[in-house]
Amino acid sequence: MASSKNIQKIEPYQRLAVYYDRLMDYIDYDVWIDDIEQLVKPFKPGPNWLDISCGTGSMAIRLADRGIDMTAVDLSSHMIEIAREKAAQQKVAIEFVVGDMIRFNSNAQYDVIINLHDGLNYLLDVADTQSFMENSYGLLKPGGVLLFDVVTPLLCQTHFRGYREIYTDELGGYERYTSYDPESQLSESTFTLNTSDEDTIEVESHIQRAYEMGDVESFCQDSKFDWWKILDDETLEQGNSDSERYLVILRKQL
Ligand SMILES: C[S@@+](CC[C@H](N)C(=O)[O-])C[C@H]1O[C@@H](n2cnc3c(N)ncnc32)[C@H](O)[C@@H]1O
Repeated sequence: MASSKNIQKIEPYQRLAVYYDRLMDYIDYDVWIDDIEQLVKPFKPGPNWLDISCGTGSMAIRLADRGIDMTAVDLSSHMIEIAREKAAQQKVAIEFVVGDMIRFNSNAQYDVIINLHDGLNYLLDVADTQSFMENSYGLLKPGGVLLFDVVTPLLCQTHFRGYREIYTDELGGYERYTSYDPESQLSESTFTLNTSDEDTIEVESHIQRAYEMGDVESFCQDSKFDWWKILDDETLEQGNSDSERYLVILRKQL
């Protein structure tokens, strides 16, 4: 797409929301749900769960379908709109809320909170990750469980140093370019989309920070949680320097 066009910056997922499920179609969400159920099982969690970065609701809908009473939050109203439509189509009852994971509050307390598939990587500084941990702790019942994942610098270096994709469909599609800076641990994905005005393009920028083991250990150590494990998301064994994604499980004191 020519750079001489007018560029309008739009918010993350403003237009990408409709493409999100396509972007994620390499993920087997059912396997993820099985893993999560297996990980939380020893804690015998109750039925009130919160998905705090629910995206288009793929996890929340499956969990609700398995009998869990789900509340699902996301910062993007565009993602929530699609999640609501999907839940209605699948006749699944979920309370959807547009909200921020670092300050969402509720009168309810939850048995389990999930924040999966890179949601936390959207938090770029320590103050925000600390607020997220503190807020989640407050939202959990005693003995409740928080599960989040983060992508690591290894994943970004391996897959996203100069990644380019062009996708076309009847809606116009997008051009994606993802770069990764190992020094700052920041990745930026820009999605360029045509508009009905042929002289104007819209650009969505998604900036995320990759987190390494030391970062994740600090999240846990600096929190009020009294028990945690940092796992490799593929093996569900202790995470290590070969992990591309850590899956972290923490428990609030009883
Ligand atoms: C990669 S998507 C993951 C969505 C979903 N968890 C899944 O597994 O498909 C990351 C999501 O995090 C959301 N997000 C980013 N920052 C957020 C914040 N501060 N509070 C809540 N959601 C946020 C984005 O809007 C996006 O829907």
